[in-house]
Amino acid sequence: MTNRGVFIVCNKFDNDNAWQQALSVINEKNQRWAKNAPVLILVAAMTHFNHNGSPNRHALYDTGAASMSLCLQAAALGLATHQMGGFSVEQAISVFNLPEQCQPISMLALGYQADASILDADFQASELAPRSRQPLKRPRLC
Ligand SMILES: Cc1cc2nc3c(=O)[nH]c(=O)nc-3n(C[C@H](O)[C@H](O)[C@H](O)COP(=O)(O)O)c2cc1C
Repeated sequence: MTNRGVFIVCNKFDNDNAWQQALSVINEKNQRWAKNAPVLILVAAMTHFNHNGSPNRHALYDTGAASMSLCLQAAALGLATHQMGGFSVEQAISVFNLPEQCQPISMLALGYQADASILDADFQASELAPRSRQPLKRPRLC
């Protein structure tokens, strides 16, 4: 835990109990594929500064930026990540005994990309479908 944010890393092979707890707070639909990930990471923001207790209005920004850095570094190492908003914040606070100023933001699955054939049929279809992205065009500034 740092001043700004928290990554609670639950590695199935290091601490199966923590990994099971992380999986348990993820919603049912996400559990259907996330159960295959060897590492689940609860991402949380520290909403106040440690040194003076005042609110950090950049806490969510910092936490999102740190998460994106983690995802990019994982990709650079040949790993895959999948961020989830679909988990219970209340259960995460309870299961990991988080202090009041520690706000769960997302759950992140991390591991090597598996073959899509291990997924349920509906997830296989979306996993194998072509990705669609907004076209890149010149941004309008005003
Ligand atoms: C904040 C946030 C919350 C998300 N929540 C979920 C989620 O609960 N379940 C899920 O399958 N994908 C969720 N996604 C989407 C995935 O993380 C990912 O962006 C999406 O599957 C597209 O990735 P792909 O193009 O690499 O397949 C979320 C994304 C973000 C940024």
